[in-house]
Amino acid sequence: MELKTRMQNFGLSKTTTNENDKAVKTDQPIEKTDETFAPLLLKILSPVELEFKSNIHSKLLDILDLSLISGIEEKEARKQIRSVVKKLIDDESIPLSTQTRHQLIKEIEDDVLGLGPLEALLYDPTIADILVNGYKKVYVERFGRLELTPVRFNDDNHLMKIIDRIVSRVGRRIDESSPMVDARLQDGSRVNAIIPPLAIDGPTLSIRRFAVDKMTLDDLVVKDALTDYMAGFLKEVAQSKLNVLISGGTGSGKTTMLNAISNFIPNNERIITLEDSAELQLQLSHVLRLETRPANVDGKGEITLRDLVRNSLRMRPDRIVIGEVRSGEAFDMLQAMNTGHEGSLTTVHANTPRDAVARLENMVSMAGLDMPAKAIRKQIASAIHIIIQLSRLEDGSRRITSIQEVEGMEGEVITLSEIFKYTRRGVNEKGMVLGQYCSTGLIPKCMANFKQRGLKADLSIFANNLS
Ligand SMILES: Nc1ncnc2c1ncn2[C@@H]1O[C@H](COP(=O)(O)OP(=O)(O)OP(=O)(O)O)[C@@H](O)[C@H]1O
Ligand SMILES: [Mg+2]
Repeated sequence: MELKTRMQNFGLSKTTTNENDKAVKTDQPIEKTDETFAPLLLKILSPVELEFKSNIHSKLLDILDLSLISGIEEKEARKQIRSVVKKLIDDESIPLSTQTRHQLIKEIEDDVLGLGPLEALLYDPTIADILVNGYKKVYVERFGRLELTPVRFNDDNHLMKIIDRIVSRVGRRIDESSPMVDARLQDGSRVNAIIPPLAIDGPTLSIRRFAVDKMTLDDLVVKDALTDYMAGFLKEVAQSKLNVLISGGTGSGKTTMLNAISNFIPNNERIITLEDSAELQLQLSHVLRLETRPANVDGKGEITLRDLVRNSLRMRPDRIVIGEVRSGEAFDMLQAMNTGHEGSLTTVHANTPRDAVARLENMVSMAGLDMPAKAIRKQIASAIHIIIQLSRLEDGSRRITSIQEVEGMEGEVITLSEIFKYTRRGVNEKGMVLGQYCSTGLIPKCMANFKQRGLKADLSIFANNLS
């Protein structure tokens, strides 16, 4: 009963989304086929319909030479498959509703050429993440919240076939000897697959969708992730040569914020972006994008972020933008920030600015140099100027919860001072977090820097302690 309601809700909200034709057109990763299908209602097929589908599927495989199909363009291949499947269904003369008929044709087509049941989800631009916990349970994240979908695979084998298709497209392999793989979909979405024996309850797939239209700083203000005066401050931070560390938990909006802020870097500067998986989309004219490479099946050929950071410094960048620091590359990055590449930006996985600094310290020690803690902290204190803390709150919203300035060192400790913060007041009856942004009243040292560069350096924003 509960599952039924959930499925109906899912189907309904989907229809509403698809009615908004514009949203589908702009974000839709899969090219629409010639024939317009009815909006995908994600009906669960009955056992009889499932058997019918599998019957048609095997007949199709008997007729069609798949090796020939794989040689032609996807659009044309889909067209051919569709016309054969239609004919096969008609030959059976089984009464089917128009919707079920469309769904059967689409599902067979997706199974043969695409990503099977996942295609229906990839078609929906409101879905941010797709999480497959075994063949029977597929969750999605929409509007910041997780929901179970009625989508399912036929069995573990079916799911494995789709996983295999995803990873083999990027030249990788998944099997018992290498049961964990990172890959990427054609639209840029990041994929992680882990299979038994490591994943105890069956093959598991996590897809983080690639947002086609990245949010700008103004969009983030509209979404209440920060206020307009905080955005004004961050724009000047990007325009002056301050090094910025964006800190936050998984999915808290770090990459989105990094992208939004980086777009305010002056257009005449040479920027090199370094990422594990290219996500940044800078609308600047002088950008070079570099991406790491995992080792091949023989464990060779790996290019790490650290290799890229080192190489990028020989490419005469004005600034480097690192997607996320995770390890020893933090050392090379701090050195770069301290030696002529001011204005660099990066993100780190941490829950508070203090935590972010401690994580950086840890990462530098991973670089394998025997540096005393105080020396590492000194490097951090002089390299990083501004720390932006992001959080994903339980109502699904992502917010800047703090902006802090790194002041320097006091004895053994790095001193941070908070400039803006978000204060939680509680939760309303709908579960939405209530709170308020404010400035702490402290005027950051970087204002002098803004002034020197001829920026607005509006002091009134620091008196704004009511949002
Ligand atoms: N302020 C916001 N309001 C609503 N959605 C947001 C906001 N910021 C980011 N998002 C969305 O949240 C999702 C996660 O964002 P993003 O990839 O930037 O997070 P992240 O912290 O970099 O995640 P990860 O830890 O996986 O690297 C994306 O779908 C993005 O579009
Ligand atoms: Mg990220």
